[in-house]
Amino acid sequence: MRIVFLGAPGSGKGTQAQRLVAEFGMVQISTGDLLRAAVASGSALGKRAKAAMDAGELVSDEIVLGMIRDRLQQGDTGQGFILDGFPRNLVQAEALEKVLMDENQSLEAVCLLDVDFDVLMKRLTGRRTCSSTGKLLNIYFSPQSELDACLAAGGELVQRADDNEETIGNRLQVYRSQTEPLVEFYRKAGLLREVPGEGPVDAVYLRIKAALGLG
Ligand code: AP5
Repeated sequence: MRIVFLGAPGSGKGTQAQRLVAEFGMVQISTGDLLRAAVASGSALGKRAKAAMDAGELVSDEIVLGMIRDRLQQGDTGQGFILDGFPRNLVQAEALEKVLMDENQSLEAVCLLDVDFDVLMKRLTGRRTCSSTGKLLNIYFSPQSELDACLAAGGELVQRADDNEETIGNRLQVYRSQTEPLVEFYRKAGLLREVPGEGPVDAVYLRIKAALGLG
């Protein structure tokens, strides 16, 4: 399937994409992860992206679109992909349509994870990533057994640099002003599947699978 996960920061896009990868072997393409890897590598692209990311602003369309074009050309996307965190504005959405059209492809569904803004702040300040497995965890919401399992495997619970209250506030504003218009864009295109994103991770996952016709 060719799917987009749409939703505010902290709505669970990465968490739920990891589930689809584990169960169906789907390919997850997260522009946030690709950008963080570029920053960590110290590449020229990473240096250009870093300031915007630190401020919670969008990285330029030119950088992100170049990265996405390269990633979609890799062989593992032939059977489909989950785009997590892309597109983020109308320019990116229209560019994606064109890239796919050039390959005689199109999106099959856009899954919108709907979560109240008050809940998002707690999810984001509590988010940690296990340095050993890459699993997304949360000091407020994850079962203690999952947090302990990361530490027992020799991992550390790492907090993202942009998960501080000030930057989160800006990311949520940027979502409202630049990304939320995509909800109407994809509704009009007949692709939108709205999924309530609150409640236990397992329950949200079942709703997503039902919305995508996967179970
Ligand atoms: P990106 O990495 O995409 O961050 P984001 O959109 O802000 O989304 P998050 O990763 O914060 O949230 P998520 O929805 O994946 O939630 P998660 O599953 O982790 O982007 C970072 C930056 O890169 C941007 O600010 C921008 O600068 C740049 N960027 C990226 N893409 C770009 C683009 N296309 N164009 C321009 N710039 C771009 O869950 C969050 C937490 O909640 C976790 O701790 C998780 O355990 C917990 N959780 C999840 N589900 C539940 C649940 N049901 N109940 C309780 N807790 C839950």
